[in-house]
Amino acid sequence: MTLHLQEKTLNSTKKYWVSKLITMKKIIYAVRLFAFAVLVTACGGKKESSNAEEYVANESKLEAPASVDVIAQGEALVKSSDCKTCHHSVNKIIGPSHTDVAKKYEFTASNVKMLADKIIKGGVGVWGEVPMNAHPDLSQADAEKMARYVLSLDGEKEH
Ligand code: HEC
Repeated sequence: MTLHLQEKTLNSTKKYWVSKLITMKKIIYAVRLFAFAVLVTACGGKKESSNAEEYVANESKLEAPASVDVIAQGEALVKSSDCKTCHHSVNKIIGPSHTDVAKKYEFTASNVKMLADKIIKGGVGVWGEVPMNAHPDLSQADAEKMARYVLSLDGEKEH
């Protein structure tokens, strides 16, 4: 009798677990379906937003590179010219450090022109008694690129 009862309980526990298992399987299936649906929508959405990002990136590429390019060109010009004999980007040597020059002047078109003139013609008296030699072989355009590079060194943007 006890054995029979035991078998019965065992049986019903088995049934209970089997039905549990089936429900679990159903749940897993539903979760999978749901996950798949989420994945599909998420992927769709992601594609759209990355397109939008690309679009924005392209937009900003249209204007930013011009100035970044000019500054990079100015840097190359400064590095290939005699400037580094007297100027270091952060330390004063014979002339003021170019970062100090950048801090002294606002990054405006008129200061770019003024410094380009000074680079070409040379000069003295702003930073001390030591004169800067003239650079008559430099074109106005190249001197302005150099001035733009110098003025960008304190992180300021042209305005
Ligand atoms: C023989 C040394 C020497 C060389 C080479 C030289 N400089 Fe200078 N530079 C100076 C000195 C000295 C001053 C400070 C002049 C002054 O006090 O007016 C100066 C000042 C400057 C200034 C600031 C001007 C101002 O009015 O505040 C800039 C910008 C500059 N130099 C850029 C350049 C660039 C770019 C080159 C390379 C093409 C260059 N320098 C080459 C010595 C030099």
